[in-house]
Amino acid sequence: VEWTEKERAIITSIFSNLDYDDVGPKALSRCLIVYPWTQRYFAGFGNLYNAEAIKTNPNIQAHGTKVLHGLDRAVKNMDNIKATYAELSVLHSEKLHVDPDNFKLLADCLTIVIAAKMGSGFTPEIQATFQKFLAVVVSALGRQYH
Ligand code: HEM
Repeated sequence: VEWTEKERAIITSIFSNLDYDDVGPKALSRCLIVYPWTQRYFAGFGNLYNAEAIKTNPNIQAHGTKVLHGLDRAVKNMDNIKATYAELSVLHSEKLHVDPDNFKLLADCLTIVIAAKMGSGFTPEIQATFQKFLAVVVSALGRQYH
């Protein structure tokens, strides 16, 4: 994947202005509410009984923040995203058995949360770059599946 200087600047800027403890939990809980079948992987996380329970579940909140920090690795290694996620891909595939289609769903929820935060600042150009970035991440996470 090739990145222009402009694309690099956009991705760096989005992430440097992000409140991980806010956006991470919001994106993950949105994914679990909008696509309830994704809840099956979080059976050990406690009460996921309804939307309110999911949004306020401290385990979900902590994990949302953790996932966002996981994305940070891609931001810092934009030229090497595939290798950066080799280990996480193995973990999600062989240990967690997460259906890789779900990566895209979480990525879409993250886009929506960030769009809502940035408002009119989330221009089509910025969205295009962000979608490209997430597509590379999703593909890298799905690479160790076979
Ligand atoms: C664990 C990142 C998508 C389910 C993790 C961990 C990270 C991570 C960094 C912690 C790994 C460790 O402890 O060493 C990501 C990223 C994703 C993604 C960057 C995509 C953008 C998903 C999706 C699901 C999922 C879509 C399920 C629907 C899990 C589960 C764990 C986990 C169940 C283990 C949680 C635990 O028991 O502590 N993920 N993940 N992940 N992920 Fe993901």
